[in-house]
Formats: sequence, C-alpha cells, structure tokens
Amino acid sequence: MPPPLYCVTDATVPATTTELLAGACAARGVAYVPVDVGRFDPCEEAWLRAGDLLFRPAVSYAAVRVEQALFADSVATFYASGEALCFDGAAAPLLFARRGLPIPRTVTLLRNDRAQQRRAVELLGGLPLVVKVPGGEGGVGVMLLESWASLVSVLDHLFAAGRTPQLMTYVADAVHWRVVVVGSRAVAAYRNHPYPDDFRSGPSNDPADYEVPPPSPLTELAVAATRAIRREFAGVDILAHASGRLYLLEANFPCYFPQAQVVGGIDVAGAMLGHLLEKSRHLLEI
Ligand SMILES: Nc1ncnc2c1ncn2[C@@H]1O[C@H](COP(=O)(O)OP(=O)(O)O)[C@@H](O)[C@H]1O
Ligand SMILES: [Mg+2]
Repeated sequence: MPPPLYCVTDATVPATTTELLAGACAARGVAYVPVDVGRFDPCEEAWLRAGDLLFRPAVSYAAVRVEQALFADSVATFYASGEALCFDGAAAPLLFARRGLPIPRTVTLLRNDRAQQRRAVELLGGLPLVVKVPGGEGGVGVMLLESWASLVSVLDHLFAAGRTPQLMTYVADAVHWRVVVVGSRAVAAYRNHPYPDDFRSGPSNDPADYEVPPPSPLTELAVAATRAIRREFAGVDILAHASGRLYLLEANFPCYFPQAQVVGGIDVAGAMLGHLLEKSRHLLEI
C-alpha cells in the first residue's frame, strides 16, 4: 500500500486544486486525507507515519502552523530540509541576488525619506519604476510609478499604512513566463499576457501557450530560484526581455498549479504526487 497524502486545506483553497490532487492520488492508489485548518486541534498530538506525504496548498498563517505541527523529518514534503519549513521567503530577492540569479535591480525602502528616494531612483536608472509591496498576489501591490508626483504620493500612503515598499527597475518589452517546477524539473511553462490598460499580466487562456519546456536558460533559472527558496515545488515568475536577458520576479510556494493542468493539459498534480512518492521511498530506505 502506498502512503497517504495529508493535504492541509481551508476554505480559501480552490476546489480545483484539491480535486486535482485527490485525482492524482486516486490514480496511484494513494489515500487522500484532507486536513481542515479550521478543525485542527493543536492540543491533540498528530503523528504522521514515516514515509507519509504532506502538502499544504493553503496559505494562511494558521495553515503554515498546522503543517509545521504535522511535519517530521521522516515525512515526504516539497521542503528541501526540515528547517526549510520554517523559512518564509520574505528575503527571497536578496537570496536570489546573493546566488547570482538575475533580478530587476531592487531597493527596499525602510523609511519615508525623500533624499533617500532620490538616490534610490538614480541607482535604479530613473523613472518609470515599479513599486512592490510584499504579501500581495495576482499583481495586487505591484504598481507602476511614472512620475515623481505618483512616486511620492504612493510612497507616503504605503509608509503611513506601515508597509516596507520595494522599488525596482521597470522591465519594459518583456514576456512574462510562469514556470512550474517540481523537484529539479520544469514541468510546465506558459506565457502571461498583459491585462488591457495595465502593465501587469495574467495567465493565458490559450492552450497553445502552454508547454512542457525543454531545458533552457529560462527553466534553469526557474529551478535555481526554487532551490534558493529551499523548495521542490514552486510557480516561478520570470520576465524575458526582448534582448534575451531574463529577470526573476518571484518563486511562489505553494502556487496555483491547476492553470497549467486545466488550460494547458499538463499533469502537474501527477508530477507532484510522483515526486512525493519517490521522496517517500527514499526516506523509508534510509
Ligand atoms: N520589475 C517589473 N517590470 C515589469 N513588470 C513587472 C515587474 N515586476 C512585476 N511586474 C509585473 O507585475 C505582475 C505581478 O508581479 P509579481 O512579482 O509576479 O507579483 P505577484 O506576487 O502579485 O504575482 C507580473 O505579472 C509582471 O507582469
Ligand atoms: Mg507573480
């Protein structure tokens, strides 16, 4: 009997995500065991057995705590090590830069100081710039600053709201790729097209935009970014500039993988299950 998959979910997890995972489990004779964050009792000890599989598609703080409570070194996860489970990735741009991975030039502003902002704008090559407020998703919190008037007014608001904005170089004329990495392999890559009247982009609805990509600088960068955040599964956003230069934006874990499966027809959930099962076998052999 293969080991069961414990899946940490809550009401915010899209039904497609859990359905695809449950389907991948059924196809392999794996029992799918949802763990509802809202019903989890922290006073009751929960033991998973050696070799069991664990994945958390839910993103809340509580969901992370439930996953940490269920984890043991003998459980198969998408974490590269036990400590990686406690690593939240907030410093990821810095980690990427220190590993020599190409990111848009970035300055994290720590206080509302105009003189410092002028130096930052100069360092970043002038306006327009992008400002990113960590913690958002779907492009919310990523804003384009085309004039000094918009820069100072937006920054005043962000500091008043207690945020720590990141200013970064605006990469124009670029294709936004989402690469889905499982283990050390890019299992799907697809284009995100700009929304009308916007500089931000979202996933394509055209199946032709989806591919199982052969190894390339794009997939190598996605795999390296996933490794940098100490994960074995991630949705990596990369801008490919017309010049051929690549700019790594972020590596998301967990990520919304059903896009590549439902629209692109690529069996991402199957690849995820396959990876966890292989890891489980390896854990039980040691
Ligand atoms: N430096 C940049 N230059 C140009 N476009 C950017 C830049 N950073 C982000 N974007 C655009 O904004 C969108 C959201 O950025 P991303 O870093 O992926 O944030 P989120 O966490 O919201 O997904 C991306 O789709 C990309 O098109
Ligand atoms: Mg993104």
